Amino acid sequence: MDQDAFLGRVVTDNAAAFAGLSVSLGARLGLYRAMTGRGPMTPAQLAAEAGTVERYAAEWLAAQVAGEYVLYDAATATYELPDEHAAVLADLTGGFTMLQSLYQTEDALVEAFRTGDGHGWEQHSADLFSGVADFFRPGYDAFLVQEWLPALQGVTEKLAGGGLVADVGCGYGYSTMLMAEAFPQARFRGFDFHAPSVEAARRTARERGLSGRVSFEVASAADFPGEGYDLVTYFDCLHDLGDPGAALRRTEKVLAADGSVMIVEPNTSGDPARSINPIGRSFAAVSVVLCLPAAIAQRGPVALGNHAGEDVMRAIAADAGLGSWRVAVETVTNRIYDVKR
Ligand SMILES: C[S@@+](CC[C@H](N)C(=O)[O-])C[C@H]1O[C@@H](n2cnc3c(N)ncnc32)[C@H](O)[C@@H]1O
Repeated sequence: MDQDAFLGRVVTDNAAAFAGLSVSLGARLGLYRAMTGRGPMTPAQLAAEAGTVERYAAEWLAAQVAGEYVLYDAATATYELPDEHAAVLADLTGGFTMLQSLYQTEDALVEAFRTGDGHGWEQHSADLFSGVADFFRPGYDAFLVQEWLPALQGVTEKLAGGGLVADVGCGYGYSTMLMAEAFPQARFRGFDFHAPSVEAARRTARERGLSGRVSFEVASAADFPGEGYDLVTYFDCLHDLGDPGAALRRTEKVLAADGSVMIVEPNTSGDPARSINPIGRSFAAVSVVLCLPAAIAQRGPVALGNHAGEDVMRAIAADAGLGSWRVAVETVTNRIYDVKR
């Protein structure tokens, strides 16, 4: 890339970074939702629909037009959110919600870079936890029941007739609840060491009428309770643990005789050059400000970051007695590993 091209890249990135807050505001204030399916609107109509002040709505719309999220018709002075854009924005604003929280950690990260200390998961503000859950949820909605579980050997057959599942590092529990809705005969236990996330998961389970078959408990991955699990899952969290080996040793201990472990990890590579694309760049950028410091804060034997690579994970699993390792599915964003003893 020559200097002019690189200048263009930095200016574009700067614009996207500035625009991120307006996207988060659009999601949080329901501005995108208010424009969905409505055709051309004036700022006054949008403001009335979303319950905001017109002057702010007008300024926000100008920013949306500049980013080509919203179309502007000068002849009628109206703004339109195309249906195709609305469909994407309905699912993809979780990452923008995380920004406020991540930027708040900058001072702590400056210190951490100098001292080598971590920044714990629980030290982030609330937007981070709901943002992460919303960031991953569309992928789970689209693939978990339809493709990922069926790609594991013998798992869906077992769960259709009953079975016990542990979802470790479950966060807000969307993955747990999706599986529970698909397999009404089976029982599901979600575990996470972050109490506010567990509380949020319990609330959602009650709202969805799942409390009888799905429970959420505060527990560390290294000693989550129970035994005889037919399936233990780790959704986008194994690399966040300070001691993934301890978690997998516990998993091996509490797994039923022919039980399976499903490890869902970002589809990243240990080779930084393979991250030169928008998804790889997003994962790599989040790793250094969130995944790595959160793992370091746990003071375990490793801190992997989210792009340590498959070989590293596989070796940790083998050391824990989980020697059978297979890539079950690969998507643009995730790799799903089917792991057994
Ligand atoms: C990136 S989030 C993923 C959450 C959820 N699985 C999802 O896909 O939305 C990582 C999760 O791991 C949890 N976590 C991190 N370290 C943990 C530990 N040692 N024991 C249990 N949970 C842990 C965090 O609280 C957080 O909910």
